[in-house]
Amino acid sequence: MPADQSPKSIKSSRTLIAQLMEPEHANTQGNVHGGWIMKLVDEAGALTAMRHARHRAVTVAMDRMVFSHPIRIGDLVTLEAEVTYAGHTSMEIEVCVTAENPITGVRVDTNTAYLVYVAIDDAGKPVQVPGLVAETPEEQTRLDAARQRHQQRLAQRNNTS
Ligand SMILES: CC(C)(COP(=O)(O)OP(=O)(O)OC[C@H]1O[C@@H](n2cnc3c(N)ncnc32)[C@H](O)[C@@H]1OP(=O)(O)O)[C@@H](O)C(=O)NCCC(=O)NCCS
Repeated sequence: MPADQSPKSIKSSRTLIAQLMEPEHANTQGNVHGGWIMKLVDEAGALTAMRHARHRAVTVAMDRMVFSHPIRIGDLVTLEAEVTYAGHTSMEIEVCVTAENPITGVRVDTNTAYLVYVAIDDAGKPVQVPGLVAETPEEQTRLDAARQRHQQRLAQRNNTS
């Protein structure tokens, strides 16, 4: 059955992933590897893109990622991902990462990343994705900012090709 192309809300594909950080995710000092967090960020982003498009989706670009706080073994890491922009075949997804110490309850925002995914068909060709509907003025402001980032990425792509 072809995927429904009617515009969708941001909340309809918002995705939450939570994972306890264990020794295999960390170095010998107990700090979780940045690469492990990047993998979780990509998983959360891809799932959100697929849930919006109802198609497979591949990662095309990831903006810079800054880790502002260490994440430790025993922390509960939560990733909240949502679509911030939908083009013809591409989608920008924002992923926010928080880490909570389950004993003290201290919760910190560790990083935010923007990733771009493209929906593809079974032959790996880009396919159209549904539009995105902003339901509040705040969502509209974020959509406008995401559109600007999209234009900047396209300009950067044209400059480097
Ligand atoms: C995704 C892929 C199929 C797109 O193919 P393509 O020939 O570049 O397709 P297009 O030029 O038509 O671009 C498709 C969309 O991606 C966007 N895009 C392409 N390169 C981009 C970039 N560097 N930054 C942001 N968006 C980009 C385009 O703007 C377009 O968006 P739109 O349809 O919403 O306007 C192809 O690049 C690919 O297979 N890449 C590898 C993906 C992958 O394996 N990811 C895992 C990494 S290990």
